[in-house]
Amino acid sequence: MDKLTPVSIRGFLPRDREDLRRISCQTAFPGIKPGEVFSDNEVLADALTIYFTDHEPQSCFVAVTDNRVVGYIIGTKDASAMEHINGKNIFPRLIRKALRRGVFLNISNLKFIFYCLRSACRGEFFMPDFSKKFPAMLHINIESGYRQAGLGARLIKTYEAYLREQGVSGVHFGTLSEEAKGFFLKMGFTILAQGRRSYLKPYLGKEVNFYVFGKQF
Ligand SMILES: CC(C)(COP(=O)(O)OP(=O)(O)OC[C@H]1O[C@@H](n2cnc3c(N)ncnc32)[C@H](O)[C@@H]1OP(=O)(O)O)[C@@H](O)C(=O)NCCC(=O)NCCS
Repeated sequence: MDKLTPVSIRGFLPRDREDLRRISCQTAFPGIKPGEVFSDNEVLADALTIYFTDHEPQSCFVAVTDNRVVGYIIGTKDASAMEHINGKNIFPRLIRKALRRGVFLNISNLKFIFYCLRSACRGEFFMPDFSKKFPAMLHINIESGYRQAGLGARLIKTYEAYLREQGVSGVHFGTLSEEAKGFFLKMGFTILAQGRRSYLKPYLGKEVNFYVFGKQF
């Protein structure tokens, strides 16, 4: 990105939804070609973003240039309440949509689901509950070509100011991105927990680290 390109940070608007969903799919599996893991971007984008854009849009912020979203931070003030809505409402709807769209008839998707279930059986998804001390949660992604230009830092600062204003005492989130680790440490987050995830090994040739970061205000 040209250093002089003006990029503004603002609250999420419904018209940002498609751009945001596109970026979420592009960045879902770091180091793997988009589409190699999961064939259906509509279902993938729902799984990654729908709670945030449709249930808590006020906790979402975007980086915009030329009327186009090039990065976002999406989050929730209350991760426990989000889990409840995900389990009761979003997950069942997602399964029905995936069935309607033939997601479970695709061999790549079935393989990915199998790898995830195998990780779950190995206990890789078990993590302590951090939501009491760090009630909020976030996901941040910048489109490639717009990274390393300060947008991530601006989005994090905007989101933190919003959480403080809302009286939220802390935020936590998980990431598989080894690359982003340095960024989050620089932004003042600390590593609360760390584990290994094997479900991407068939694609990457190795297990990856999973980090839970947190910050209290
Ligand atoms: C990780 C990510 C959000 C960082 O955003 P960014 O806009 O590229 O980062 P910034 O330009 O705002 O960087 C802010 C500071 O962090 C530093 N930084 C950025 N990425 C870094 C990295 N990988 N390692 C160490 N420091 C890093 C920058 O040098 C900068 O430091 P400075 O203020 O001293 O110059 C972005 O690169 C991204 O979306 N990556 C791909 C998807 C991803 O990994 N998302 C996180 C999953 S939760």
